[in-house]
Amino acid sequence: MKQDKRICLITYGCQMNEYDTEIVRSILSAAGYVFTQDDLEADIIMLNTCSVRENAHRKVYGHIHDFRHRRQGKPVLIGILGCMATGLRQELIENKHLALDFVVGPDSYKRLPAILAQIGSPAGAASEEGKHPGYDVTLSEFETYADVYPARAEGVNAWVAVMRGCNNFCSFCIVPHARGRERSRPAGNIIDEVRRLADEGFKQVTLLGQNVNSYRHEGVDFARLLEQVSTVKGIERIRFTSPHPKDFPQDLIHVLATNPKVCKQVHLPLQAGNDRVLELMRRHYSGREFLDLVCKLRKACPTLALSTDIIVGFPTETDVEFEDTFELVKTARFDSAFIFKYSPRPRTEAALKLKDDVPEAKKTERIVRLNKLQADISLEKNKELVGLVHPVLVESSGKTKGGAAYGRNDANKIVNFAHAALKAGDMVNVRITRATPHQLKGEFLNFIEVLAPLG
Ligand code: SAH
Ligand code: SF4
Ligand code: F3S
Repeated sequence: MKQDKRICLITYGCQMNEYDTEIVRSILSAAGYVFTQDDLEADIIMLNTCSVRENAHRKVYGHIHDFRHRRQGKPVLIGILGCMATGLRQELIENKHLALDFVVGPDSYKRLPAILAQIGSPAGAASEEGKHPGYDVTLSEFETYADVYPARAEGVNAWVAVMRGCNNFCSFCIVPHARGRERSRPAGNIIDEVRRLADEGFKQVTLLGQNVNSYRHEGVDFARLLEQVSTVKGIERIRFTSPHPKDFPQDLIHVLATNPKVCKQVHLPLQAGNDRVLELMRRHYSGREFLDLVCKLRKACPTLALSTDIIVGFPTETDVEFEDTFELVKTARFDSAFIFKYSPRPRTEAALKLKDDVPEAKKTERIVRLNKLQADISLEKNKELVGLVHPVLVESSGKTKGGAAYGRNDANKIVNFAHAALKAGDMVNVRITRATPHQLKGEFLNFIEVLAPLG
């Protein structure tokens, strides 16, 4: 099995891609490959990529050229995994400058050992286009990698994909084209993995899915799944991302509000505040319905931290319509927001049917205004926390940098404080003493006993 081949695997994109990188490491380690951080000493360079926005793939193209340049002729196989492989398959195959040795999509990772063996050397990879042995961009309706235990990096948090794919087809989004149809993993299999994670010392799991709250497998829905995961001893915190506002029934809100292990934090993508734009985006809610959900969530769970995603400059969005987004952000008072300029993505409904007609300068103006508004709100909200005591799960030990330690509170906000004798995974109480828009500062109070396991 020993290959003596070294792989440098670089990850771009969202948490799901980070998780998939761990899947790929697991599959290829079992096949005898070893991993290196250094692209210059690697025999194979793999880029696990994202195609969600235009600049994401530009960056990857730039890196591929840099890698080849730096090698100065020393042979290497370079290939693409992830969402660009499937989302931009045509472009990748046709782009002669990239000269990729392999292009393997997110549902084909189990075939990687066979693919790498077949393409063997850079010379062996240069076979006929279209039947290239290094290309596998098929999407599956069933693959969930339930039988692969990811080779995780150390830390306090473990990503656990509970479903893959997306059936929503928001008109701007390439993800359903890149990752295929929704499919959920059996709950029992997820719980077994979470138990093993707890045994390995992980304190927090983050359940992942492109539309995580549409999880359903043999009668177990997402609310039940959260409850089941919360019974695992040793796991202190459960997070999940990303939910869709349309899949938030009352019993999920109830579990979120009442289960002590489920963090009081939700990333709830808004995308736009204007109803005509939301309709064109195919989001299946109005601005009013989104705000109603925010109210319901906050009523059930007053300390809830909310973050969101917003797109500015969607085709045909007028100044007046953008003001609806601006006003909604003012009303919703998110704790934080990721705001993006619209970019057309191949094969999406918006790219096929609508002209990208909002000028770049307008997009810039809108994103600057929204970012400023959100930074003010984030700061105000964080200032409200000054003086309070928050349980913090330590991520970085205080032994380095003069005792500087940091961790996250339940709301997933970073809290910096000083303590020289901590280790990652400790739970401590910290009094918040200062706030910035993106981080909190505090002083250590005491260690906390872990939460009692439920049931
Ligand atoms: N599954 C996640 C979305 C993943 S993509 C969810 O539904 O929340 C992350 C974010 O990228 C999206 O929420 C959206 O705000 C942004 N995005 C997606 N496609 C985009 C595009 N074509 N242009 C700009 N931003 C986009
Ligand atoms: Fe994309 Fe919409 Fe699916 Fe999220 S819910 S991955 S934005 S299609
Ligand atoms: Fe990007 Fe794919 Fe994630 S397109 S955002 S890596 S699901």
